[in-house]
Amino acid sequence: MTDIQILVGSVYGGALMTARAIKQALDADGYSVSVLENPELGDITSDTAPLLVCTSTTGQGEVPGNLLPFYVALREQLPQQPGRPFGIIVLGDSSYGDTFCGAGELMEEALYETSAHKIGETLCIDALETMEPESEALPWVREWISTVLK
Ligand SMILES: Cc1cc2nc3c(=O)[nH]c(=O)nc-3n(C[C@H](O)[C@H](O)[C@H](O)COP(=O)(O)O)c2cc1C
Repeated sequence: MTDIQILVGSVYGGALMTARAIKQALDADGYSVSVLENPELGDITSDTAPLLVCTSTTGQGEVPGNLLPFYVALREQLPQQPGRPFGIIVLGDSSYGDTFCGAGELMEEALYETSAHKIGETLCIDALETMEPESEALPWVREWISTVLK
């Protein structure tokens, strides 16, 4: 059984590497983690595992191309997921000003519309502050998963 599904959005690989580092760490802790690099709506509707979004932000506060079809399908079809836990890790760059970490907000809004239930605060990782997003993501995710699966 899958314990968490990670929905990845990444242009240059930073968010994907972060998701893989999370999987490696949590697998070592005994969890079963699936990393969805090109997620489709059916991946989440055929499962009930908590969802972790791990995406970067592109364009002007937009969702990366590999996650965009999922995002659009989610918005259009709104498959109801009442109470399903989710969390958001978003990579961005504060020099983009108003659109800083915008992809996380878009995914959050879409998941709220499915009645899913957000656990924890969004972790927003600023490329201006760190070159190693996984070093911020790992402590956050351990806290997050202990809340989600308790
Ligand atoms: C063309 C381009 C557009 C970007 N637009 C935004 C943006 O609107 N908001 C933001 O917070 N970061 C923006 N970023 C920064 C990226 O989200 C950030 O560098 C992130 O770490 C990249 O992760 P990735 O390697 O997974 O794609 C942009 C980066 C590029 C190259």
